[in-house]
Amino acid sequence: MSGYQGPMRVLSGIQTSGGMHLGNYLGAIRKFVDLQHEHECLYFLADMHSITVWQEPEKLRAQTFHIAAAYLAAGVDPNIATIFHQSAVRAHAQLAWIFNCVARLGWLDRMTQFKDKAGKDAERASVGLYTYPVLQAADILVYKATHVPVGQDQKQHLELSRDIAGKFNHDFNAPDFFPLPEPLIKGPGAKIMSLRDGSKKMSKSDPSENACIFLRDDADAIARKIKKAKTDPEPLPSEEKGLEDRPEAANLVGIYAALTGKSNAEVLAEFGGQGFGAFKPALADLVVDKIAPIGNEMRRLEADHAYLQSVLDGGAERAAAIADPVVKEVKDIVGFVA
Ligand code: TYM
Repeated sequence: MSGYQGPMRVLSGIQTSGGMHLGNYLGAIRKFVDLQHEHECLYFLADMHSITVWQEPEKLRAQTFHIAAAYLAAGVDPNIATIFHQSAVRAHAQLAWIFNCVARLGWLDRMTQFKDKAGKDAERASVGLYTYPVLQAADILVYKATHVPVGQDQKQHLELSRDIAGKFNHDFNAPDFFPLPEPLIKGPGAKIMSLRDGSKKMSKSDPSENACIFLRDDADAIARKIKKAKTDPEPLPSEEKGLEDRPEAANLVGIYAALTGKSNAEVLAEFGGQGFGAFKPALADLVVDKIAPIGNEMRRLEADHAYLQSVLDGGAERAAAIADPVVKEVKDIVGFVA
């Protein structure tokens, strides 16, 4: 049990390595928007995580503005939440090194995302890709963040952050110096699946262009992707139990539920017995209604780098004001000379 006494603080980040998609929106960004009204929140652009795999420098810069635009267009308010890019706050890298010396190889060996991303040729993966979850722990703990809104795929990384926090507190006899951060995963949208394969999560790197709805897709692209979404020949069931063993149907119902704030059961009460010929157009209209305005606003914001840069600079300054004193304390605890 953690006896951490500090304030509740929410933090999360998104990599700047590809287009923002419906999974990022429902699993993360939408939660960011809701939480900012209730708690102190920091949301960053994980550009240092992005370079764990090769990024074209110009593309990386553009992607960083793209994610910043997504946050703002979705409703994250820079006057309420702190929005910044990770590389602008040196404390992340400073704490990450110390955490590299706290985390154990065996812990990192268990990380499934490394295995997925490195693939068969792990020898050729960057060292950064391997220690990626350690930097993630530093991102969180350098602000002593207590709560981390993420999708289901980040659960294991959050567990590692808790392990690192606990080991640091224990090894340095600094009880409750770091909180054990809680993931905020629950709720509809925590795991949005590919539109082409209900067993794979929706991902920007999916080779099939119809697998993933990007926030910047226009209405036609959204409608086309939903029309082409893989389904089965059965009509929708009237009860949730009927979605078992029907991953593609369950995913589409889940997206509808997440976007309307209804439960799966409520969606099925409305559409049970109907075929996908009726459900898909309703879903397409809903996604267009919710996502297309965000995409339009992103396009507008992305054309205004000066504004986005000013938001990020202001956020980085606020973030550093929290993080630098934490690093100073950590250095003292570790035994570095001031
Ligand atoms: P990233 O950039 O892969 O994803 C960003 C967020 O989107 C969520 N997500 C999904 N949610 C539901 N369904 C999906 N198909 C889906 N795909 C992605 C992710 O769970 C995540 O919340 N390691 C992190 C970035 C990070 C971070 C952090 C997060 C770096 N440092 C500190 C929290 C705290 C990542 O790669 O997310």
